[in-house]
Amino acid sequence: MGYRVAVVGATGNVGREILNTLVEHEFPVDEVVALASEKSAGKEVSFGDDQILRVQDLAKFDFKHIDIGLFSPGAKVSEVYAPKAAKAGCVVIDNTSRFRMEPDIPLVVPEVNPEAIAQYKNRNIIANPNCSTIQMVVALKPLHDLAKIKRVVVATYQSVSGAGKDAMDELWNQTRNIYGVQTVEPKKFTKRIAFNCIPHIDVFMPGGETKEEWKMTEETKKILDPSIMVHATCVRVPVFVGHAEAVNLEFERPLSVDDARRALAKAPGVIVEDRREPGGYITPQECVGQPEVFVSRIRKDPTVAHGLSMWVVSDNLRKGAALNAVQIAERLIDGMLDSKRAA
Ligand SMILES: NC(=O)c1ccc[n+]([C@@H]2O[C@H](COP(=O)([O-])OP(=O)(O)OC[C@H]3O[C@@H](n4cnc5c(N)ncnc54)[C@H](OP(=O)(O)O)[C@@H]3O)[C@@H](O)[C@H]2O)c1
Repeated sequence: MGYRVAVVGATGNVGREILNTLVEHEFPVDEVVALASEKSAGKEVSFGDDQILRVQDLAKFDFKHIDIGLFSPGAKVSEVYAPKAAKAGCVVIDNTSRFRMEPDIPLVVPEVNPEAIAQYKNRNIIANPNCSTIQMVVALKPLHDLAKIKRVVVATYQSVSGAGKDAMDELWNQTRNIYGVQTVEPKKFTKRIAFNCIPHIDVFMPGGETKEEWKMTEETKKILDPSIMVHATCVRVPVFVGHAEAVNLEFERPLSVDDARRALAKAPGVIVEDRREPGGYITPQECVGQPEVFVSRIRKDPTVAHGLSMWVVSDNLRKGAALNAVQIAERLIDGMLDSKRAA
């Protein structure tokens, strides 16, 4: 007997990827419900090759019979509807930033802190971290276990799909219009994104960092270790899918490049592609559709006592969002959650 699953934000970038991942992973579903805003009610989304789901209006939906809700409708919408669903007995796995830093809500990357999933019982909500944090902590975990990371300095190169489907359209239209010598007014982004880079993601915080940078710091502490210091610079680049990160690490103890490479190669969810020759590394374009986090350019940083640098790439819609959420759901049903129908 399978589970009844609701995908909230099913017409969006993350929601569509969640539907694909449920099919690919053969998640045991008895019923899948696609939910979005009122304007999408009645539209159709595919679920696998054969099934078409008719989108329903989230505002009118009753979660009483739903076991698991995979949410990605934006933080403001999750704020209202995730607690309602949770109160109706549905376990919510929320992709938005709304609940991530609440102390009684687990923030989970299954390769790093799967034990935290059990805390879902506190409020029936589990938070999925930010896409940039997820891929970074998957790569940090095996190295932290070996030599304890003191400090991380990271610069991100984040694709436009991380800002939703309208942002992808903006890059597409601007790129096409520039070639057509037409106007290229920014709407979703603050400046032109086509053929450009923008060092600003999410709102500015009082100290001058952006909220995306703050999230990488605070979420890494919550998931991996509160003592790790993280300094991030988050940059939007004109790439459709796939985030890249230049990560510099300072450890408490010595760690050789060879030991780091071996540990990463054995780590769950990580692929090391690191040949020191032209093309011997992974770029965002090559990670699209792949479930893993790719690590390349592993090398010593001789400017600090125990330093390493590396290049980390992953599909932000997959491991950075949908896949991580489905992996949490898989752990949840592995002994922690019974279907309401079975109960
Ligand atoms: N993209 C990423 O890499 C990524 C990674 C991690 C987390 N996230 C988070 O996931 C969320 C969604 O991201 P996205 O990239 O999928 O955005 P998106 O492509 O813009 O999709 C947004 C989805 O939310 C739905 N929605 C909006 N307002 C709604 C409402 N009032 N009621 C019900 N549904 C509503 C939309 O439905 P309509 O089509 O009906 O408007 C659509 O299905 C964001 O909070 C984002 O920060 C994204």
